[in-house]
Amino acid sequence: MLVRDVRLFYGLFLLLRQSCGLCTYPSDLRGTWHDSVYGTIAFTDSSMNMETKSFVSGFTNTNFTCQLNNGDMYVSKSVESVTLGILGGFTINVWICFEIKSLTTSSFYYYLRSSDQDNLNFGDVVPVATTVTSVAEADVCNTSPGVGEFHMLVNPASAKEGLSAVPVPLLGDFTYTMNFGTASSECGVSAFWEGCSNTTIITLNNTACGSQFVGYSASGSLGCITSFQDTTSTSVYYVGVYNFDTSVNGASTKRFTCFTVEFDTNITMVSQSPNKCSSGSSPTVLPTDGALLQLTTVTSCAPVTPPDDPLSIAAIFAIVFSLISKTLPRGAHTVFTLSDTNTMVNKEIITEPKLVVKPIRNGQPQSMELQQWKNNAEFQEPEGQLKLVTKPQPL
Ligand SMILES: *[C@@H]1O[C@H](CO)[C@@H](O)[C@H](O)[C@H]1NC(C)=O
Ligand SMILES: *[C@@H]1O[C@H](CO)[C@@H](O)[C@H](O)[C@H]1NC(C)=O
Ligand SMILES: *[C@@H]1O[C@H](CO)[C@@H](O)[C@H](O)[C@H]1NC(C)=O
Ligand SMILES: *[C@@H]1O[C@H](CO)[C@@H](O)[C@H](O)[C@H]1NC(C)=O
Repeated sequence: MLVRDVRLFYGLFLLLRQSCGLCTYPSDLRGTWHDSVYGTIAFTDSSMNMETKSFVSGFTNTNFTCQLNNGDMYVSKSVESVTLGILGGFTINVWICFEIKSLTTSSFYYYLRSSDQDNLNFGDVVPVATTVTSVAEADVCNTSPGVGEFHMLVNPASAKEGLSAVPVPLLGDFTYTMNFGTASSECGVSAFWEGCSNTTIITLNNTACGSQFVGYSASGSLGCITSFQDTTSTSVYYVGVYNFDTSVNGASTKRFTCFTVEFDTNITMVSQSPNKCSSGSSPTVLPTDGALLQLTTVTSCAPVTPPDDPLSIAAIFAIVFSLISKTLPRGAHTVFTLSDTNTMVNKEIITEPKLVVKPIRNGQPQSMELQQWKNNAEFQEPEGQLKLVTKPQPL
């Protein structure tokens, strides 16, 4: 595989040498950040120095420069190169592709869009011979991870400003059990998960269960960075949290955890994975180095949104604005009729297709009209009435 790829690149492109950064990272990403997988990363306009991650043996860190930016896609190339002791000694750089999305000025998430197709044990990077100078986005961005496989980037100096509310199944106060694959709980009976006093922060007062902490947090204080609903199993959520411990040791305590969560009758099932969720994470399957939790609700603080209830004009505005900010209400609401005009409510809501709808209130269509926000919501038309069905957030 490697042999073919390197030859391919080598044979196809013997052009100019790229050296310094050719693009700039998102403007809020400057200075030192915590990455959920790669440890500490220092950003400047066009450099991304992974201070504690080495893809190539012999290095202790990896410095990248930004080579190509297309929308949210950022393709970076390692400054350092390594000579492979095969093929007569090709010298390669490693290239990596991130699809980066901003959450707040203190938090981002991204998908690692490169995968190791060469079994080089470098990790998910693409080796490219140093003589190759024309590399296309598709050469490096060669994979599409699942919605739950996001990485997080948090500015440690302002982490508390980078939080968002936990999703509905975790909006509550709970007692919990935790185990590492056995049937019995390894926590004390007073294990308590407090999630209502601040919906962005989870506080645990009995955090060490056997050999592990919930969320790998000795202080028991976790902040929610972001969460996603699974695209097919829509009752499953992937929740990324940040541990507020002053320092972490990388073993019993870690900076980031991904919870895979599903409410199941009276119990909320949770699996905890260090750093990030992997493809196929399940609320009931023990992750590598992870644990399984069962949460019993003591008090729920989830907002009550009965499905199919008529919404007020204010609630419809709330939906429109929440679509913009990407925090979607759950459920389906029969509130719209189709209109043949296309006045916009807010000029920011511009997308295709141009489906225009009118809300019904007290049986009368109202004058407010809005356009479909294509990726976040879909409109169905059962029995002559339109239904707004909120969908999981897009990648
Ligand atoms: C990466 O950059 C840092 C800071 O300039 C430098 O100290 C370090 O040696 C570089 N890493 C490698 C592997 O060259
Ligand atoms: C929740 O905690 C965050 C971080 O400390 C804080 O900014 C926010 O104001 C708190 N919210 C409430 C409702 O107390
Ligand atoms: C944790 O909090 C709960 C509820 O406030 C309490 O009943 C329990 O005793 C506390 N446990 C510990 C170990 O502090
Ligand atoms: C759920 O809780 C209710 C009330 O405590 C109980 O009657 C019911 O049996 C429980 N269902 C399951 C499946 O545990």
